[in-house]
Amino acid sequence: MDKTIKIFSSPYELAEKFAKEMVNMIRKYANVKNSFTIALSGGSTPELLYQILGEKYAETVPWQFVHFFWGDERCVPPENIESNFGMARNKLLSKIEIPSINIHRIKGEDDPEGEAERYSEEIALFTIKRGGMPSFDLILLGLGEDGHTASIFPGHLDLFDSDMICEVATHPATRQKRITFTGRVLNNATAVTFLVSGKKKADVVKKMFKNDALALNYPASYVVPVHGRLTWFIDREAGSLL
Ligand code: 6PG
Repeated sequence: MDKTIKIFSSPYELAEKFAKEMVNMIRKYANVKNSFTIALSGGSTPELLYQILGEKYAETVPWQFVHFFWGDERCVPPENIESNFGMARNKLLSKIEIPSINIHRIKGEDDPEGEAERYSEEIALFTIKRGGMPSFDLILLGLGEDGHTASIFPGHLDLFDSDMICEVATHPATRQKRITFTGRVLNNATAVTFLVSGKKKADVVKKMFKNDALALNYPASYVVPVHGRLTWFIDREAGSLL
């Protein structure tokens, strides 16, 4: 597996550098294939990235080639402050010209089990398959202080062996229902990038990169793309214990 770690001086520099990298990927692929599939991450860390893409790159990227998906979603309506789709719409999607059919949101307002199934079918329709599972061009991921990623939480490593594309999960603290990609979809992507910033993440980052035994409980430790590249974009605070 091709693994790279890049450390930046601030959350802004991290977001700016990744925005450039992501835009270059889209421009490169736009000429060789008819769609570029991206699964966005949620939480607070990617907000700056989506904002920069919406403000600096709205006119200069062939967004009509991009199909946006979400690697996980909170089971809330899109106008809810917790909605990952809602955040990306406000920061990015409402700022760019992109056909609405290219925006594949998880309907967090619907029945979780039914939506996990429906969304899996939609993913299968719009992505290429590799080894019988969907293969995204790019998946963005965050990292929780407990080592979770997407909505795969500690104690649920079985989601890395699941044959499903999406499954329903429950946030261990809030009991909030989530819909999440399974581990095999994460590990089937051509490129996976973790975006991690802030002092709160320093301990989990240290444990993961120093191969601490505790990291064996962290779902993020099992993100090992089979065919693809794994890149970590970390800011100085999150990397302060490395
Ligand atoms: C979510 C995410 C989740 C997130 C981490 C980090 O829906 O919450 O997809 O996996 O990436 O919890 O969240 P922060 O960026 O807010 O620290």
